[in-house]
Amino acid sequence: MTLEGKAAIVTGGARGVAKGVAAALVKAGASVLIVDREETLGRETEEELRAFGQVAFFPMDLTRHDDLPSIVDAAVARFGRLDTLVNAAQASRQLWFMDTTVADARVAFDTGFWPTFILMQAAYPHLLQSKGSVINFGSGVGFSGSPTQASYAAAKEAIRAISKVATNEWGPKGIRVNVICPFANSEGVQAWAEQNPETYAAQLAGVSLRRIGDCEKDIGAAAVFLASDAAAYITGQTLMVDGGQTKTV
Ligand SMILES: NC(=O)c1ccc[n+]([C@@H]2O[C@H](COP(=O)([O-])OP(=O)(O)OC[C@H]3O[C@@H](n4cnc5c(N)ncnc54)[C@H](O)[C@@H]3O)[C@@H](O)[C@H]2O)c1
Repeated sequence: MTLEGKAAIVTGGARGVAKGVAAALVKAGASVLIVDREETLGRETEEELRAFGQVAFFPMDLTRHDDLPSIVDAAVARFGRLDTLVNAAQASRQLWFMDTTVADARVAFDTGFWPTFILMQAAYPHLLQSKGSVINFGSGVGFSGSPTQASYAAAKEAIRAISKVATNEWGPKGIRVNVICPFANSEGVQAWAEQNPETYAAQLAGVSLRRIGDCEKDIGAAAVFLASDAAAYITGQTLMVDGGQTKTV
């Protein structure tokens, strides 16, 4: 499953799951542009991953929607091509549904849904050339409807919805679109687990493999597979990389 000669964009890659994905892609041979609003962390990640291959950091707050196409331009200028777009950046506010305002919900859509939507459009001409693929990030929360996650669940399911439409529209042109729903030990999940130890323990008890996933070894490996030619006949799928937390069998 080599990605030698391929180039990727990974949003949210300064830390957590997307950093694991960026690391796995680089180690598989891809050139990777990491995009994140956390500039210091992003530069550290860039430095760390440079030992394994070609990687560059592009600082950007993805809520600057008009500027998002410049991310694709930067990747193509640097690497000469684009084969894989990974949309993983996401922020959200956890609130009871009745307390969630439109402004709260906008955080999830402005950081997750709209960047995914706009970057897919900007990447399309380049993916068309490379017969590349998109890997978007959903969440099991979209399936379970966990309390306090209304805006997050809605944004994640909206991402899955456009992924299905793009699968149908772009499949005949050779572009694949898939979604990963992870469960992994990112900084975001670690912070949440510390604040909600009982909920976290209950969640872990529902994971068939009884462990939390590793950002690089578990989620990154799945992303490498989906980005590679080994997955050439796989599109329009949501892959639950969550230790069996959500069963689709
Ligand atoms: N970790 C899990 O178990 C889990 C479970 C389900 C879904 N997911 C999804 O996987 C992806 C990664 O999750 P994570 O746990 O690593 O998250 P995280 O919160 O640890 O990291 C998210 C990254 O996105 C970046 N980001 C957020 N808003 C941004 C913005 N406006 N502009 C630029 N960068 C921005 C952050 O700076 C951070 O580096 C997300 O899409 C998340 O919804 C994760």
